[in-house]
This record gives sequence, C-alpha cells and structure tokens, in this order.
Amino acid sequence: MKKKFLLNQVNKEPYIDLNIKDLQKWNKLDEITYAQMQRQKYKYEFFQKAFDLIYDNTIVGDYFEFGVHRARTFRFAMSQAKRRNMKKIKFLAFDSFEGLPDVNNNIKQNDKFKKGLLITSENKFKNYIKNFNFYKNNVKMIKGFYEKSLNKKLIFSLKKQNTKACLINFDCDLTQSVDQALKFSMNFLQEGTILYFDDYFSSYKGNPNKGIPNIIKKRFKKSKFNIVEYLNIGYAAKSFIVYNK
Ligand SMILES: C[S@@+](CC[C@H](N)C(=O)[O-])C[C@H]1O[C@@H](n2cnc3c(N)ncnc32)[C@H](O)[C@@H]1O
Repeated sequence: MKKKFLLNQVNKEPYIDLNIKDLQKWNKLDEITYAQMQRQKYKYEFFQKAFDLIYDNTIVGDYFEFGVHRARTFRFAMSQAKRRNMKKIKFLAFDSFEGLPDVNNNIKQNDKFKKGLLITSENKFKNYIKNFNFYKNNVKMIKGFYEKSLNKKLIFSLKKQNTKACLINFDCDLTQSVDQALKFSMNFLQEGTILYFDDYFSSYKGNPNKGIPNIIKKRFKKSKFNIVEYLNIGYAAKSFIVYNK
C-alpha cells in the first residue's frame, strides 16, 4: 500500500505541469509570447509592490519613465496609482519616440540594443494610454533624445513646480541613456524615491564593473543621497530606495 502510494507520488513529479503537449509544436511566436508574458508579469508585480510602498511610506511625488515605447510599464504605473486614488500624481514620459540612438557601442552592451530599434511614435503612444482618460491631464510627454531634451530649461521649469519623484523607471536600455536620465533625475530625488533599472543585469552581460551598475555607483558617490537595494525583478531588473546620506 505504502509502496503504491509512493509510486503515485513519484509519477506526479516534478509537481509542475510542464505542458509537454505544447512543447511538441513550439514555434517562434510561442517563444516570444512566452518570454513577454513572464517578463510583464514580474514587472507588473513590481509596480503593485512599489506603489504599495509609496502609499505606506506616504511618498508624495510624480512618476518618471525614461523609455516608454509601447507604454506597457507606463500603464502598469497609471493603473497602480489609480488604485491608490493618487489624484495629483503626474506621469512624465521621456522618449525620443524615434527608438534607440546610436551610441557607437550599442552591440557591445547587448546585441538587442541596435540603433533605431523600439520605435513608437507619439501618436501610437497616446493611443496605448487612451483608456486612462481619468489621468488625461496628468500625463506629460517630453519628446527628444535625452542629450538634448533633458536640458537646464526643463530642470528649471520642473523645479519651479516643486517637482519631486516618487518612482523613476529607467527603461532606456543603453548605459549612456540611463546615465543621462539618472543625472537629470538627481534634481528630483527625495528620501523614499524608488529607482527601477530595467536593464541592470542585461547590459555587458551583468558585469557590475561596466554598464548600468557602474554608472549608478558613480552618480551616488558624489551625491547628497545614497541608495539601498530594494527588489530584484524578473530576469534583469533591480530597484533601489533613495535616502539622505
Ligand atoms: C525597452 S523600450 C521601453 C519599453 C517600455 N517601458 C514599455 O514597457 O513598453 C526603450 C525605449 O527607450 C527609448 N530611448 C532609449 N535611449 C534613449 C535616448 N537617449 N533618448 C530618448 N529615448 C531613448 C527608446 O526610444 C525606446 O522607446
């Protein structure tokens, strides 16, 4: 009896349904859909947790996203803010709306970071967020390559409105883009701001002495703020919380 029971249990291993039937006819589209479903699921979970922490720590501020493309994470942020009835929050969308720039060593960083990839026009972006009409007046799109768009005039105008960030999403792949975005963002940090770096482990194959981890270290070394590790997200992202030194 005991033997039969044990045999049955072993047959149930590995206890997770691997859907072997599906795997027999697995094609390229399945591969992409599967990867995206996994990735977006973990990102969405992060936004649920991050907004819960913002709520619990009473962090008042705006949402910045560098690299908005198809507005997937942008919509996650808007939906989670709305669930907390955050009425005054603004959503700042920073993008070239012309895809990735050429920074000379795109492919060295990751062979998926080719120049001109990931283009979403402004109109397409607006269309992706059209159902979020309750936040129609809270969204601000800042078009242009960061080298030019993240300028002193913009810093001045945002500071004049006492802008502070509650959550900043760095989802612009290239180290140079993240560095420009982070340098700009240093002006709008406060104790409790959450920083999310989408490509933390996917630039330079995760080498901590290169790419995104390296520029984060450098920027905070000379800042009045410091960061503490918060959550690791999905396969490549990492987040931090800002605090006063
Ligand atoms: C991976 S996509 C963003 C994905 C998006 N968060 C989503 O969930 O759909 C990267 C985006 O970063 C933008 N980008 C990268 N570097 C940039 C730069 N230097 N200036 C402006 N936009 C940049 C690209 O145009 C692209 O839309």
